[in-house]
Amino acid sequence: MSHKSPLAHTLSPFDDARATPRGRARVLSGIQPTGELHIGNWLGAVRTWVAQIEADVEDTLFCIVDAHAITVPYEPADLQARIEGFALDLVACGLDPEKTTLFVQSDVREHTELAWYLASVTPYGDLGRMTQFKEKGEGKDFVSTALFTYPVLMSADILLYKATVVPVGDDQVQHLELARETARRFAHRFGPVFPEPQPRLSSAPRIMGIDGDGKMSKSKGNAISLFEDKDAFWNKLRGAFTDPQRLKKSDPGRPEVCNIYTMHKALTPSDKHAEIRDNCTGAKWGCVDCKKLLFESFERELVPLRTKREALSAGKLREALGDGASKARKIAAETMREVRDVMGLGSRAAGL
Ligand code: TYM
Repeated sequence: MSHKSPLAHTLSPFDDARATPRGRARVLSGIQPTGELHIGNWLGAVRTWVAQIEADVEDTLFCIVDAHAITVPYEPADLQARIEGFALDLVACGLDPEKTTLFVQSDVREHTELAWYLASVTPYGDLGRMTQFKEKGEGKDFVSTALFTYPVLMSADILLYKATVVPVGDDQVQHLELARETARRFAHRFGPVFPEPQPRLSSAPRIMGIDGDGKMSKSKGNAISLFEDKDAFWNKLRGAFTDPQRLKKSDPGRPEVCNIYTMHKALTPSDKHAEIRDNCTGAKWGCVDCKKLLFESFERELVPLRTKREALSAGKLREALGDGASKARKIAAETMREVRDVMGLGSRAAGL
C-alpha cells in the first residue's frame, strides 16, 4: 500500500508467536458464492487450501463469504442456491468437513460486528485506494457503501480467528496488506489482540481470463467453470487466449507470457515442462497441441472431483456447515470478548 502509516513499523507481539493454543498456526481463507467456481479460483486458491488441509500442520478454516456477495446487486433466492453449490464444489475439491472447519460467513454474526469495530481504526482514504473497489464500482449507477467497506469485513474475517496465514490469489494481496495494517492500528490504539496475517500465494496466483483481458473472474464472463462438462470445458480452453505475438503456428511462442503455460506449470508433471517450452519456442507445436496436453492434465485431476461432487448429499452437507459454524463461533466469541473488553464496550452485565 502506498499509504505511509506512522504505525507501519509497530511490532506486533504476535510476530514470533503461534496463533492457536495447540501451537499450530491458523490458516483462514474465503470465497464469494457468486458466479461459478472457476479454474482460476481452483489453481490460485482452492487447490492450495486442500494441500494445507492434507499437510495437517496448521489449523484451517474456510469460509463461504456470503456477506461479501451482497455488496453488489443480487437475487436472494439465487444467493441461497449459490451458497449450497459452492459448498458442494468445495467439498468435492477436497475441503473435507471432517478435517477442516468449513462454514458460511453470515452464520457467524461476529464477522459483521467486528467489521464495525475495525472500521473505527481504518482510515477512509485507505478504502478509496483499493483496486478492487475501483474496478467493481467503475461506471456503475449504484455503488453500495458495503462495496466501499468490503475490505474492513475481510479484515474482520481474518482477525476474528487470529489467523496468521491467508492463502489467496494475488488480487487479494492488497486487501491483506490492509488487514495487517488494521491489526497494527488496533494494537497501537487498544493493545495487542490480533496477530498480523501473512498472504500465502500458490504457484499460479494469477490466471488470466480466456479472452486475455485481465484476470479470470466470476463476473467477467471470461472464465472456465471447474465443474463445466467435458465438451464445454474443452471448447473454452481451445479458444483461450495465448501469446498475442503468436499469430501462426510457425511463429515462435513465448511460454513466459502465456496463460496456458502458467497452467501447465501448476498442473502438468514437471518432467514435461522442458518439452512444452521447447515445442512452443521452437514453433513445433501449435497452441492447440499445447492446449490438448493441458486438457489431459485437467481431466486427470477433475474427473475424480466431478464424480465425487455427484455423490455428495446436500442434506449431509448442511449438517456439516452447521457444525463448522458452531466451531467457528466458539473461536469468534472468545475473540469478541477480548475486543469488547479492550475497547471499553458493553454493559459488563453478567452472562452477555
Ligand atoms: P474471490 O471469491 O474473488 O476468489 C476466491 C479466491 O480465488 C482467488 N482467485 C484467483 N486466483 C488466481 N487467478 C485468478 N484469476 C483468480 N480469481 C480469484 C482469489 O484471490 C481468492 O483467493 N475477497 C475475497 C474473499 C474473502 C477472503 C476473506 C479471502 C473474503 N474474506 C478472508 C481470504 C480471507 C474474494 O473476493 O475472493
